[in-house]
Amino acid sequence: MQRLQERWRRELAMLARLGRRRTLSLPRGIDFTSNDYLGFGAEPVPVPLADEVAFRLWSGMASRLLRGHREQYEAAETALANWHGAPAALLMNSGYVANEGLLSTLVRRGDWVASDEFNHASIIDGLRLAKGERFVFRHNDLDHLEEGLRAAAAARKRDTALFIVTESLFSMTGDTAPLGALAELADRYEAALIVDEAHATGCFGPNGSGLVDAAGLRGRVLATVHTGGKALACCGAYICCSDLLRDYLINRCRHLIFTTALPPAAVAAWLYRLPQVSRGEERRQRLHRNAARFRARLAEAGITPLGEHYIVPVVIGSDDRTVRVAQRLQSLGFDVRAIRPPTVPPGTARLRISIHADHTDDQLDRLAQALADALSAEDVT
Ligand SMILES: Cc1ncc(COP(=O)(O)O)c(C=O)c1O
Repeated sequence: MQRLQERWRRELAMLARLGRRRTLSLPRGIDFTSNDYLGFGAEPVPVPLADEVAFRLWSGMASRLLRGHREQYEAAETALANWHGAPAALLMNSGYVANEGLLSTLVRRGDWVASDEFNHASIIDGLRLAKGERFVFRHNDLDHLEEGLRAAAAARKRDTALFIVTESLFSMTGDTAPLGALAELADRYEAALIVDEAHATGCFGPNGSGLVDAAGLRGRVLATVHTGGKALACCGAYICCSDLLRDYLINRCRHLIFTTALPPAAVAAWLYRLPQVSRGEERRQRLHRNAARFRARLAEAGITPLGEHYIVPVVIGSDDRTVRVAQRLQSLGFDVRAIRPPTVPPGTARLRISIHADHTDDQLDRLAQALADALSAEDVT
């Protein structure tokens, strides 16, 4: 025990020296950090729905393959599949679990999978668990991806598969993947395209169902992954796919089979949120307008963030400086957090500012000004 404790203390001290030791801190100040993009997070699910299910069904009680499966799951999955115009949807306990489960189930020994270098940890971990060969292509670099595909297609053996995995709106760079071009490459090399829509779900397309649907690519992707804990203001996650793939996952995906189902009361909340989000066009417009306004204010102050939408990453570089700038903003009442390695590559520590539909013009303008002041105090601009 003592040896272990020494090991952990050494490692924590090392993280502290690097300026990378994390602590948990409660929400304080105006929320520019969470992924509650449409601002539904603070809105309660109404009592009649809670009465129906919440007081009795706060435990999944078993795996969905056993007694954990309930009518709320069936209703929510049907509603979600319809929302996307997809054949089927399968709820999972979180986006992390959905990515890890999907990829480790699908990608077999002898298969080859290309993954964008900035894909989320859950994709990376899913591919670590999977037995196939990994090819990490430079961020959104279609030439690099095609190089890999060409070589993989030439070396391909019978009964093996090629996959391409990407996020649609990247969490830490705030830019989007070239989904149309990725689908073209996937078609050309007979690869299966998997898209993680965690940060786009709810926020793009006429009914908010995401970037894949907005681009009319539903029929050309193998699967999309969506989380509940971001714009949808729910919990858990789901995978959209064919009926056959859903059936396969129910039989083969360990992350679904060997875990207790989400509580039905929580799943019932999806049925309340989904129509809110799908009819939330006004909020979507406000979200995109707010993001454009905030980015314009930053540009006026000479600050060039990454990306182009409501995730606004401002790269500062050094971990210490990034933490100091974040603390300064926090002291002024803005909840903005520092993102440091290993979440992002070393030397690219950043603030990841998350714009929401319910931010006011005044809040956006004041944060832009405070950020400009904090950066010049640190001599960053
Ligand atoms: C791109 C991406 N995929 C998946 C996840 C995991 O989703 P969840 O938080 O539901 O586990 C995240 C979480 O932040 C994410 O950013």
